[in-house]
Amino acid sequence: MKKDLLTLRDVTRDELENIFEVAAKLKRERGNSDYRPLAGKSIGLIFAKSSTRTRVSFEVGVGELGGRPLYLDQSKMQMGRGETVADTANVLSRYLHGIVIRTFAHSDVEELARVATIPVINALTDEFHPCQIIADMLTIKEYSGKLDKSIRVAFYGDGRSNIANSLVLAAKLTGFELVISSPEEVGYSKELAEDAPNIVWEKDPIKAADGVSYFYTDGWVSMGFETEREERMRIFRPYQINDKVYAAARPDAKFLHCLPAHRGEEVSASVMDNPQRSIVFDEAENRLHVHKALMSLLMG
Ligand code: CP
Repeated sequence: MKKDLLTLRDVTRDELENIFEVAAKLKRERGNSDYRPLAGKSIGLIFAKSSTRTRVSFEVGVGELGGRPLYLDQSKMQMGRGETVADTANVLSRYLHGIVIRTFAHSDVEELARVATIPVINALTDEFHPCQIIADMLTIKEYSGKLDKSIRVAFYGDGRSNIANSLVLAAKLTGFELVISSPEEVGYSKELAEDAPNIVWEKDPIKAADGVSYFYTDGWVSMGFETEREERMRIFRPYQINDKVYAAARPDAKFLHCLPAHRGEEVSASVMDNPQRSIVFDEAENRLHVHKALMSLLMG
């Protein structure tokens, strides 16, 4: 039976460990392997939003696994002119062996996966970004050698963003401590975090830094929220990750960011560009290895 990845709820802890193992092997053997699980297969990459990391790493990844990537700009598809998601899923299932999709409404990805007879991977919706968070967790494992309750991650900014929501599901899955530091009027998704005592919310960004091993933030104006830019700049301003926040943290705390970063907004240049703190490019590289692992496991 086909398996999709729409959120981290689709992954068990054992499956996550297997993804890490496959990704680590693909990383070690990159450029020196004849592993081609996608040989003879075509993977559709539907994008309704801008992308650098996700598009390039999936496109390169399909090629390195021996498959054929088809980049599909959603605005140029008939789906962008009103063809239903279900009809699109039916048609693409006759041509392709897997679909990777980045779009706005999470419900569209759910509908696509429900109807498609081929595996579907969520490459970002307004609500969830599972591929990003799996790569982030691999990066933490590489740096700390483990991913459990001894690891404390603090997310600063929009506590209801697709990154924050996905971190909540990741903390539930693995047990790492997660602090979400966001303004009172934003908070975080308590529904997603239900029954997870390892997830806490802390309004005060200095208090939230206590004992943190990994700081994490994202741009304050996510794709689709551009009209709210001024208001979001105002409410998230106290949640910039900077030297003041670092002064309240462990000296060896690392900095993660899904990118693109906006220096002077959600992160200071003194954090983003400090190689003792920032591990964002190792994190970005891991997108490629994780995407290859996901496609080989789900579509190979
Ligand atoms: N982090 C992330 O998804 O990057 P892109 O938007 O460039 O794909």
